[in-house]
Amino acid sequence: MTRHTATLAGTWGRRLALLALLALPSVHAQQTREDLARQLPASDLSGAQAQRSARQFLAAPGFALARVADNPLAATATPVGEKVCIACHQLESEHFTHTVHALGLHAAAKADPAIPVCETCHGPGSAHAQDPAGKGLILGFTRSSATPLAQQTRTCLTCHEGGARDHWAGSIHQRNDLSCSDCHNPMATFSGEGLLAKRSINDTCAQCHNDVRMEFGRRSHMPLAEGQMSCVDCHNPHGSLTAPLLKTATVNETCYQCHAEKRGPFLFEHAPVRQNCLTCHTPHGSNQHALLVAPVPFLCQQCHSQLGHPNDLLTPQSLANGAHPDERLIGRACLTCHAQIHGSNAPSGPKFHE
Ligand code: HEC
Ligand code: HEC
Ligand code: HEC
Ligand code: HEC
Ligand code: HEC
Ligand code: HEC
Ligand code: HEC
Ligand code: HEC
Ligand code: HEC
Ligand code: HEC
Repeated sequence: MTRHTATLAGTWGRRLALLALLALPSVHAQQTREDLARQLPASDLSGAQAQRSARQFLAAPGFALARVADNPLAATATPVGEKVCIACHQLESEHFTHTVHALGLHAAAKADPAIPVCETCHGPGSAHAQDPAGKGLILGFTRSSATPLAQQTRTCLTCHEGGARDHWAGSIHQRNDLSCSDCHNPMATFSGEGLLAKRSINDTCAQCHNDVRMEFGRRSHMPLAEGQMSCVDCHNPHGSLTAPLLKTATVNETCYQCHAEKRGPFLFEHAPVRQNCLTCHTPHGSNQHALLVAPVPFLCQQCHSQLGHPNDLLTPQSLANGAHPDERLIGRACLTCHAQIHGSNAPSGPKFHE
């Protein structure tokens, strides 16, 4: 009902505006230059106004709302400012200078001196400055610091909540007591991007998952060791809804990101391919050909018997040796004939032949 009334009012409003427009020419005829000038917005070429409106643009938007972090272990401490920290932490400050946080916080602090720099992450510093050895008086992010883990991550998450970190809470890394600083070191530039604790993403993960990195050294592997891929192509270390920390809803979706041709659609589908690529492949590396979990023909024989195979009668022993080896088992074995193993659209029918 109200909507209807609103539409009616809208229609009438438009009609009135139309009438007013029709009446305009006569109004114009009576206006002087001064009348017109008065209707125009004031022009001020001094630049003062431009400066005023520039202040409304935030100097460094992500940092414009930065505030001094909470530190319950130093409840009465007050902020002391960056200069005081630098007085004792010259070296750390120099390393910090070229990081994205330093650039952003310094730009924001220049536009608004109330924006803290070091104390955005480390909390108010007065108690620590008076008693540097006092435990927990400054927010620390190392394992030896007295600051509880939850407090450490909460400090970073005040600005970095959501997005990739939507599922941080409850993730396997959060539950295993990892802190942001296990993988990130915002105090210096060790990596090209991402403020990582080590030189690269793979090195960062290898701190704890070196066994997985080693698997990429096997005979067949995707080019991770060669630097063409990284663990985060498939995993989200900040947490995800799919175990184990996969970026997509299923294993197959992860693989389709790069192997899109395996998605199909196929007229003749191979059931295990649709179900899960890991039925036949391992993601991190294999000593078999093509990342397979077992060599062909054994891989296929886990599910298929030879019974009913067209040339079954020729080689009843079904072995790859002897005077008349079974051609189904030599060389590329089953794949010689069933080459389109991921599914096929070939007119030759549903047996995945070339
Ligand atoms: C009077 C000198 C002094 C001032 C001022 C000072 N610090 Fe420190 N800070 C130290 C010393 C000394 C240590 C090492 C304490 C120890 O090892 O027990 C330290 C340790 C730290 C740590 C490591 C603590 C931990 O638990 O891991 C951080 C972080 C820190 N300072 C940050 C700051 C910040 C931020 C400021 C400015 C708000 C600041 N400091 C001001 C002397 C100072
Ligand atoms: C973006 C958040 C952030 C800002 C801003 C920041 N720090 Fe840090 N700081 C950290 C983290 C995280 C660590 C732990 C790094 C690690 O894993 O060794 C740290 C560690 C430190 C340490 C201890 C180093 C050690 O080896 O124990 C000192 C001292 C320190 N910061 C001083 C400063 C000073 C001084 C400033 C300002 C010039 C500053 N920080 C600004 C996040 C920050
Ligand atoms: C005051 C807000 C604020 C706080 C607190 C903060 N950050 Fe940031 N951080 C930013 C902004 C803004 C950027 C730059 C924009 C972006 O990449 O989202 C950034 C960038 C980053 C990046 C990406 C750097 C890159 O090269 O792409 C990482 C990693 C990061 N922060 C980690 C941390 C960690 C770890 C902490 C806690 C120790 C922390 N941040 C605390 C605001 C903050
Ligand atoms: C297990 C390691 C690990 C932990 C723990 C971790 N990160 Fe990251 N983070 C990474 C890696 C690796 C990247 C680089 C991802 C990329 O380049 O796509 C990254 C990227 C980021 C980025 C920049 C890209 C983005 O997603 O916006 C921010 C910001 C960030 N992390 C913040 C955090 C915060 C805050 C925490 C703590 C709550 C945290 N990280 C904990 C490994 C980790
Ligand atoms: C500080 C050590 C540490 C670092 C660094 C680390 N992880 Fe982990 N990660 C763990 C722990 C601990 C677990 C839990 C292991 C377990 O329960 O078997 C885990 C679990 C995982 C799992 C899930 C395993 C499962 O069985 O569900 C994946 C996937 C994973 N990490 C990937 C990564 C990636 C990718 C990186 C780098 C961005 C990384 N981790 C960096 C310690 C670490
Ligand atoms: C091509 C995608 C891909 C890449 C790249 C990748 N993973 Fe995985 N990862 C997976 C899949 C899929 C699984 C699930 C395996 C399963 O269920 O058997 C997995 C499982 C895991 C697990 C838990 C099981 C195990 O094998 O221990 C960990 C931990 C892990 N990955 C860490 C890493 C690390 C660290 C890297 C980088 C060195 C990495 N992954 C690179 C896809 C990938
Ligand atoms: C980020 C991209 C990416 C993702 C995601 C990815 N791959 Fe790969 N994969 C590659 C690249 C690149 C190669 C190497 C291609 C080449 O050398 O021609 C490769 C090669 C392969 C090979 C052939 C290996 C060999 O030795 O011949 C197999 C099998 C494979 N991937 C399976 C998978 C499976 C299964 C998944 C999902 C768990 C997956 N891939 C996810 C990029 C990816
Ligand atoms: C029934 C077992 C099986 C399943 C399931 C399977 N594959 Fe394969 N895959 C193979 C075999 C066997 C080869 C080797 C083919 C050859 O050497 O001609 C292979 C080879 C590959 C290759 C390298 C050669 C090529 O064709 O590009 C890629 C990439 C690949 N598979 C990706 C996938 C992906 C992605 C999935 C899931 C959608 C998947 N595979 C599911 C058996 C399987
Ligand atoms: C995890 C079990 C599994 C594995 C491993 C497997 N398959 Fe299959 N395969 C199936 C299922 C299930 C079907 C569908 C059967 C049906 O529709 O009656 C199928 C269908 C086929 C068909 C078509 C049969 C028909 O009657 O249309 C061929 C040919 C085939 N597979 C060959 C292979 C080869 C070659 C390998 C090894 C590279 C292999 N399969 C590995 C489960 C598997
Ligand atoms: C010399 C070529 C050749 C080789 C090697 C071969 N096959 Fe076949 N396969 C065929 C032909 C031809 C058919 C039947 C086609 C038809 O009936 O339309 C067939 C049919 C099948 C069927 C469907 C059987 C049915 O009952 O309908 C399966 C499953 C199968 N093959 C699996 C395998 C496996 C597993 C291997 C490896 C151990 C293998 N094949 C090796 C040529 C081959």
